[in-house]
Amino acid sequence: MKMRRHRVFLLCTVGLCVISFLHYYKALHYVSLLRELSAPYPNIKSFIMVTGFFWRERATPLTSASPEEGPPPALRPSDTRPHPSRFIGDLHKRTFTLQEDHTPYFVRTKAGAWCFRQGTEVAPPRDDAGTGKGRPTMSSAPKLKPKRGKRLVKCVCRPGWHGPYCGVPTMVYHSNLPTKERLIPREKPRRVINAINVNHEFDLLHVRFHELANAVDLFLVCESNFTAYGERRPLSFLRRLLNGTYDYVRHKILYVFLNHFPDGGRQDGWIADDYLRTFLTRDGMSRVRGLRPDDVFLINDADEIPAQEGILFLKLFDGWTEPFAIHMRKSLYGFFWKQLGSLEVVSGCTTGMLSEVYDNDGIRLRRRDYYTMPRFRKYENDTGHILVQWSLGSPFHFAGWHCSWCFTPEGIHLKLVSAQNGDFPRWGDYEDKRDLNYIRELIRTGGWFDGSVQEYPPSDPKEHMYAPKYMLDNFKHYQYLLENPYAKQPVLNYRLSLVLDYTEQFKRKI
Ligand SMILES: *[C@@H]1O[C@H](CO)[C@@H](O)[C@H](O)[C@H]1NC(C)=O
Ligand SMILES: *[C@@H]1O[C@H](CO)[C@@H](O)[C@H](O)[C@H]1NC(C)=O
Ligand SMILES: *[C@@H]1O[C@H](CO)[C@@H](O)[C@H](O)[C@H]1NC(C)=O
Repeated sequence: MKMRRHRVFLLCTVGLCVISFLHYYKALHYVSLLRELSAPYPNIKSFIMVTGFFWRERATPLTSASPEEGPPPALRPSDTRPHPSRFIGDLHKRTFTLQEDHTPYFVRTKAGAWCFRQGTEVAPPRDDAGTGKGRPTMSSAPKLKPKRGKRLVKCVCRPGWHGPYCGVPTMVYHSNLPTKERLIPREKPRRVINAINVNHEFDLLHVRFHELANAVDLFLVCESNFTAYGERRPLSFLRRLLNGTYDYVRHKILYVFLNHFPDGGRQDGWIADDYLRTFLTRDGMSRVRGLRPDDVFLINDADEIPAQEGILFLKLFDGWTEPFAIHMRKSLYGFFWKQLGSLEVVSGCTTGMLSEVYDNDGIRLRRRDYYTMPRFRKYENDTGHILVQWSLGSPFHFAGWHCSWCFTPEGIHLKLVSAQNGDFPRWGDYEDKRDLNYIRELIRTGGWFDGSVQEYPPSDPKEHMYAPKYMLDNFKHYQYLLENPYAKQPVLNYRLSLVLDYTEQFKRKI
């Protein structure tokens, strides 16, 4: 009897020991993580704490302004480097002839199914694997499951792809498209034209080109020798275009040059803002040859990057309606300050609708009042389609990214001083708002120029659709947009709170 009680007691003690050791070990793990995080930057931390305190005092609230409706960025007006416009030649007058896209996006399986390669499950690797990586080895599928032949005519979709052809990405599958049941792969892909105005978003421009080069046939890139404010600006995109910066995608770029400033643009900045889109579309599209009315036109701001999968879907399928919007993940200063919900911008339609309904004016497309346009009903009748606006993605399934004010502090400064005159208050007019230390502090805290700080839901670089793939693949180069460069503090606090939470729980258990 005594022995048994002893044994029970012993067992209990051992059990308790194991449990508490496990808890302790986990807590230790967090502590070491904490050390790891704090070790390399001990000095920066205290520096930021000091400057942070100082600048919070200075940022006095004025009025509110929504960050994502900010003015368009532009280039350094005071730049005195030699003007490359004399090298422009006929670059801004050239035409571009669209070609047929013969890329084999789909593959026929031996069993007879027609499957979208990118969305279709690759057969498990085999010993004689001499085939290229990522290529679906369809012919082997029937051998794997020889029993029910009829089922094998279907495509086996990879995660993230849906529909009988595995060509419908999740962002379309979960969208409000009313015709999801009637999507048919096209015989000839549409050609996709992506139009943008650039100022100094050169890092994001590389991201766009890499994200979309496989889905887009032609990029219309417009720059002006005037800032949106009406001052002189150097042709920095042209300079890069000519010095080989974009050689990897040069064959898909048509350069559009806006060499004048619209009347009234100085008094009302929105006129200048709209005019950029109008000119981009009119001048750009007039130089495109070989257009078909069912090709796709897509207009973005330089800080709006659609995800490749959605655009590829538009290119390869019939059965969607127009115009279409895009739900984009919203963030400020970088991808780390994620904002609530999504930004939904009407961004595209067929080139037929663009010319018939919108009179080839990209800004009319972006205002969502197509159904009041005089020629809308006629176009609907002529095409025989009932046109319903829909949106790629949803507030929960992003179909792109909108990263506003995503620059280094110097880039934000440049954006401030060249912003259009009409988005009041114009922060570039205030000397203290242009101060680089003040801007760094805004980035650190996610604050706005009016002194307010909005609420940000938690975000994690590992989350789905955190940032475009090219950025994550080139993490070092884009680190300043992927991790808050001035906030080692909040991360540390987060870890610390985890440890504290943990010890708290642990204590309660005892
Ligand atoms: C912009 O370019 C046009 C044509 O080259 C020129 O006439 C105009 O003066 C330029 N404007 C500025 C501000 O450089
Ligand atoms: C092209 O010009 C830009 C801006 O002047 C510069 O940053 C870049 O390094 C140049 N690239 C090449 C390949 O010369
Ligand atoms: C609608 O289309 C038909 C031909 O499909 C045409 O005869 C008719 O005139 C059109 N109506 C309008 C209002 O455009």
